[in-house]
Amino acid sequence: MYSTKRLASSLLFAFILSAGPAAGLPRGEESKSIAQQKSNSSQSPANALYFLTNEAQNAVAALKINSDGTLSAGSCTGTGGAGSNGIDGSTGQPAVPDALFSQSALTVAGNHLFAVNAGSNTVSMFAISRSDPTSLKPMGRPAGLPGDFPVTVAASAKHGMVCAGTTGALAGVSCARFSAKGGIGEFDALRGFDLGQSNPPVGPTNTVSQVFFNDVQDTLFATVKGDPAKNNTGFLASFPVLRQNGGTCGVSVSAQGSMASPSGTAVLFGARPLPDTGDGSAGNSSRIFATDASFGAAVLGAGSQGQATVLGKGTLADQKATCWATLNDVTGTAFVTDVGINRLVEMSVENASVLGEVDLSATGDPGLIDLTSSGSFVYALSPGNGTTSAAISVVDVKGGAEEAKLVQHFQLTGVAGKNSQGIAVFHS
Ligand SMILES: *[C@@H]1O[C@H](CO)[C@@H](O)[C@H](O)[C@H]1NC(C)=O
Ligand SMILES: *[C@@H]1O[C@H](CO)[C@@H](O)[C@H](O)[C@H]1NC(C)=O
Ligand SMILES: *[C@@H]1O[C@H](CO)[C@@H](O)[C@H](O)[C@H]1NC(C)=O
Ligand SMILES: *[C@@H]1O[C@H](CO)[C@@H](O)[C@H](O)[C@H]1NC(C)=O
Ligand SMILES: *[C@@H]1O[C@H](CO)[C@@H](O)[C@H](O)[C@H]1NC(C)=O
Repeated sequence: MYSTKRLASSLLFAFILSAGPAAGLPRGEESKSIAQQKSNSSQSPANALYFLTNEAQNAVAALKINSDGTLSAGSCTGTGGAGSNGIDGSTGQPAVPDALFSQSALTVAGNHLFAVNAGSNTVSMFAISRSDPTSLKPMGRPAGLPGDFPVTVAASAKHGMVCAGTTGALAGVSCARFSAKGGIGEFDALRGFDLGQSNPPVGPTNTVSQVFFNDVQDTLFATVKGDPAKNNTGFLASFPVLRQNGGTCGVSVSAQGSMASPSGTAVLFGARPLPDTGDGSAGNSSRIFATDASFGAAVLGAGSQGQATVLGKGTLADQKATCWATLNDVTGTAFVTDVGINRLVEMSVENASVLGEVDLSATGDPGLIDLTSSGSFVYALSPGNGTTSAAISVVDVKGGAEEAKLVQHFQLTGVAGKNSQGIAVFHS
């Protein structure tokens, strides 16, 4: 049922080194930086990167991350499920790029990886090999969901909990326990969202964008896009993690949630939890960095009663659709991408003000979708558009946007194409 094939062929994984590693940097500075990163595990380069091919025979592609941050050939492992495409509301055709209208189509928790199968309404779980993290072992059969068209998945290693967001006719959030031995248990009843969607859904507006846990993992959040043209308000949904009998009987994600539409937001998309400051500045709050496809990005404060406010807002005047976000530990800033513009924009995690821009137009990609960070590197996926091939841009941002260097443009020809979605890394 599952197919795991090694893709070592340099033809399949032909990559173009657009510039030498750390081009323009004195050698000494480069090696010092890498040594510093090694002394701090949260900053050391991860050693595998994953994304979803999201083809009819869905698969997770894994690439090796070298110690200099560059990518090289890895493996491709079938999920046992089917990928799919939403329908692009402006053309009536299968949506590409951004086939799923989402961030986090796959995610890593501990040494497990979870991926959605939008075409078969399941979530697949894999064990990541610590000695070779490009090697993935499927854990049982894909687990069935009570909703339609899963596009995003979150997992908490702390709680052994996996939650998926579905955005078809049965839209909402469902969670299941997982364990290293037993794989994914039964998904619980759908926490439904009344989006009036179809199978497949028509987007990108009026769809579920992302599910994620906050930094302290006591709340599960979902971002849901509104549709400004239809006066349809997007929202941030929150579901507390409940400790049963004080935690002695494990935890569950509350069946009851709250929805808030932070004033000034409309099309909330990719989100990253900010570290819990513990200063209680906005009540018992979680802080979240979230993109909004209608203007740029915002820093949100979410209170324990489900209320949410905009703490800061960054508007990108020339943007097309700012949808995906990553936080970089080395710069202490956020980077966002736009499916219609080939660049990274660096923003403040205090108030989402724009700090700089990395122009990547030289790579020829039409725009970028899901992205992630490891050490001082940002990895951003371009699924291409069927004419241009899929690729990942590897950008060293240790000096911030102004000094950022494209270190590699890794072509995915023969591995994945315009349907690909999601990106995640594993640190051994
Ligand atoms: C590692 O880096 C993180 C993020 O910058 C920092 O919070 C932490 O204190 C560092 N740990 C050590 C041991 O230097
Ligand atoms: C949109 O909804 C708001 C709040 O319900 C309402 O005040 C406003 O009149 C509506 N606008 C349109 C164009 O329907
Ligand atoms: C803050 O959290 C604590 C512990 O969860 C709770 O007892 C308290 O009522 C919360 N305060 C507010 C203002 O929400
Ligand atoms: C936004 O935050 C940055 C720090 O990240 C600060 O320098 C700037 O003054 C802030 N801007 C506003 C308008 O608060
Ligand atoms: C794909 O993107 C390239 C580069 O932006 C562009 O030249 C081409 O016209 C696009 N093709 C389609 C089918 O949109």
